[in-house]
Amino acid sequence: VAGDAEAGEKVFRKCKACHQVGEDAKNRVGPVLNGVVGSVVGSKEDFDYSDTLAGMHDEGKEWTPENLAAFLEKPRDYAKGTKMAFAGLRKEEDRTNVIAYLATFSGK
Ligand code: HEM
Repeated sequence: VAGDAEAGEKVFRKCKACHQVGEDAKNRVGPVLNGVVGSVVGSKEDFDYSDTLAGMHDEGKEWTPENLAAFLEKPRDYAKGTKMAFAGLRKEEDRTNVIAYLATFSGK
């Protein structure tokens, strides 16, 4: 994955109100993001996704770095009806770096 994971850790501060990563991560307002890069959308079985993300899951849509970048730019445009209440990351660099950071967390 392209991008600077260390810089992405700082960007992830904006996500921490709702998301956790790492060994003891738990679902909060948003799902745990371990293993999300390269996974099928909406794959955390113990999280109650919106119908929007559940539908993308059923279509087999994947969180490729490209799809993640598009979602993170404008979540509510990319996934109409998502319950992720976040305006988005305006800077391409921030999107690339936070995806690189997320890619350092594998597993569930
Ligand atoms: C879903 C990333 C900020 C709440 C997701 C998903 C990703 C993601 C990748 C899809 C997870 C999956 O398919 O399992 C991020 C990143 C953020 C961020 C990188 C910061 C740049 C936030 C914030 C909130 C939030 C601030 C709360 C205000 C949620 C919720 C979902 C979600 C509720 C589930 C959406 C649904 O089911 O429609 N997020 N998020 N996120 N996020 Fe975020």
